[in-house]
Amino acid sequence: MSGIERAYRGIARPLIFRMDAERAHEVTLRALAVAGRLGPARVAAAGLFNRHRRPVRVAGIEFPGIVGLAGGLDKNGVAARMWGSLGFGFAELGTVTSQAQPGNPQPRLWRLAQSRAVINRMGFNNLGAAALARTLAAAGVRRGNNALGIPVGVSIGKTKITPLEHAVDDYLTSFRLLADRADYVAVNVSSPNTPGLRSLQDKESLTDLLTALTAEAITIDKSGPVPIFVKIAPDLSESALDEVLEVCGSTGVQGLIATNTTLSRDGIGPADLELAAEAGGLSGAPLTRRARQVVAHLAARTDLPIIGVGGIESAADARAMLDAGARLLQVLTGFIYHGPGLIDRINQEVSL
Ligand SMILES: Cc1cc2nc3c(=O)[nH]c(=O)nc-3n(C[C@H](O)[C@H](O)[C@H](O)COP(=O)(O)O)c2cc1C
Repeated sequence: MSGIERAYRGIARPLIFRMDAERAHEVTLRALAVAGRLGPARVAAAGLFNRHRRPVRVAGIEFPGIVGLAGGLDKNGVAARMWGSLGFGFAELGTVTSQAQPGNPQPRLWRLAQSRAVINRMGFNNLGAAALARTLAAAGVRRGNNALGIPVGVSIGKTKITPLEHAVDDYLTSFRLLADRADYVAVNVSSPNTPGLRSLQDKESLTDLLTALTAEAITIDKSGPVPIFVKIAPDLSESALDEVLEVCGSTGVQGLIATNTTLSRDGIGPADLELAAEAGGLSGAPLTRRARQVVAHLAARTDLPIIGVGGIESAADARAMLDAGARLLQVLTGFIYHGPGLIDRINQEVSL
C-alpha cells in the first residue's frame, strides 16, 4: 500500500466516514473547492497524485490519463479545478438539468461499508445548467482550451418536473448552455432516481433525443461538433443494449458510458441488508461484474469508444474493464472508499 493509500485509510477515511454520507460529501467537496482556488494546494496535490498518467486520444479528445471522475460527484463543478491535480485524466461534471432543482428529500445517500457500496437516490439535486456554464466560464473553460489541464465532460439529464414528452426540449436547453464549455457532453438517460428517465433508453425515445442533440451540436459548431456520449444502465437486457447500439450508430453519437447505478441488490453483505432495502441506485463493488459484462457485450458489437464505469476499486478491476473493451475508465464509489491513492495506483499499474 502506498503512503497516500495508508494516509487515506488511516486518517482521512475514518474522519469522513464518521459523518453522515451526504454531509461527508459536502464537506469534502467544499474542502476541494477551497483547495482548488489556492494555486499552491493544487500544485502540491499534483506533485503527489499526478505522476503516472498516460495520454490517450478518444473521440478526437486528448486525455492525459485513462481514469476519469464519474458523473454525479461534482454536479455543480465546484471542485472542477482540483480533479486533474488528484490524478484524474478527465472529469465529468453534472448531471445538471435545465432548471435548478433540490433533488429528493434527505436522507438519500448511504454507505454500505461491508459491501464497499453506496446506495443513492439523490434525484439530480443541482443548481441548473446555466449555473454550471457560469462556473466553467469563471474558470476560463472553453471547449478544447484545456484550461483545467484535463478534458471536462458535462452530463445532462431531465428536470424532474418536465413531462417526459417534453424531455427533448429540456435536454436541448441544457445542451445549448453547455456545449461550448465541455469537451464532451454525456447524455444521462440511465439514472434510476428521476421517474421515467430510463424509458428514454427505449428505441423510439432515444432516437428522438439523440437525433435532436446531434443535430444541435452541428448547428452550434459545423466544423467540429462537440462529441456526444450516451450513459446507459446496467439493468438493460441484451436486446435492449443492442437497440441502444443501433440508435447510437444511426444518430452519430461518439461514445458510450457504461454503466450507471443498478436497481439490483445482488452482492450485498449480510451487515448491509437493512440499508439495501432503501430505494435508489447501487454502486461500488456489487456492480463490478455486471458493468464489465455490459461493456464486453457492447464492445463486441460496436467500434464506438466505451467509457467503462461501475465498481472499479483496484488496478485489477481497471485492467479487467479495459480487457472487456473499455477505452477509458471512470470511478466514483471506489474514490469514496479508497481515496486518490486508487487513481494513482491505476495510473501507475495499468498501461494500455
Ligand atoms: C452519490 C452518487 C451520485 C451519482 N450521480 C450521478 C449523476 O448525477 N449522473 C450520472 O451520470 N451518474 C451518477 N452516478 C453514477 C456514477 O457516475 C457511476 O456511474 C456509478 O456510481 C457506478 O460507478 P462506481 O461504482 O464507480 O460508483 C452517481 C453515483 C453516486 C454514488
